[in-house]
Amino acid sequence: MEKTLVLIKPDAFARHHAGDIIKRYESEGFRILAMKLLKMDERLASIHYAEHIGRPYYKDLVGFMTSGPLIAMVLEGEDAIARVRKINGKTNPKDAEEGTIRKEFATSGRRNAVHASDSPESAAREIAIFFNQTEIYDGTYHVEADD
Ligand code: PPS
Repeated sequence: MEKTLVLIKPDAFARHHAGDIIKRYESEGFRILAMKLLKMDERLASIHYAEHIGRPYYKDLVGFMTSGPLIAMVLEGEDAIARVRKINGKTNPKDAEEGTIRKEFATSGRRNAVHASDSPESAAREIAIFFNQTEIYDGTYHVEADD
């Protein structure tokens, strides 16, 4: 089982697509282990996007990511890092495959609806930026309706 960090970005949140996006992950069998609504500030953005500092798009990226509230989540599932990125689709919706979240909800390479960790190392780093250990559910799910 693998954990990954997902952000529902300010564009998708403002357009009321959060529920549809969460439903997509749940219907693929991922478990939600943590979730919160927050507004990024420049400091948090500079930590999360540290490897992008100095890139030509960095200022735009931070301006967008701090423009409104977003949802941060930890998802768990088999091969979660690769599978969530596949469900999200390519960075730019023009290149994203049919059926992906970005194909449906992103409007540009900047307003691209979702972020997901790209490796086990970045997942561990990014999860720790948004959540402390007490905020991440680590028990088992008990589904009463299953009996
Ligand atoms: S990815 O998904 O990490 O492989 O995407 P990548 O192409 O490496 O881009 C890294 C993040 O930068 C964002 N990005 C941009 N933001 C604003 N303007 C422009 N032009 C732009 N190009 C790329 C892209 O959405 C990635 O953000 P995250 O949150 O990692 O998906």
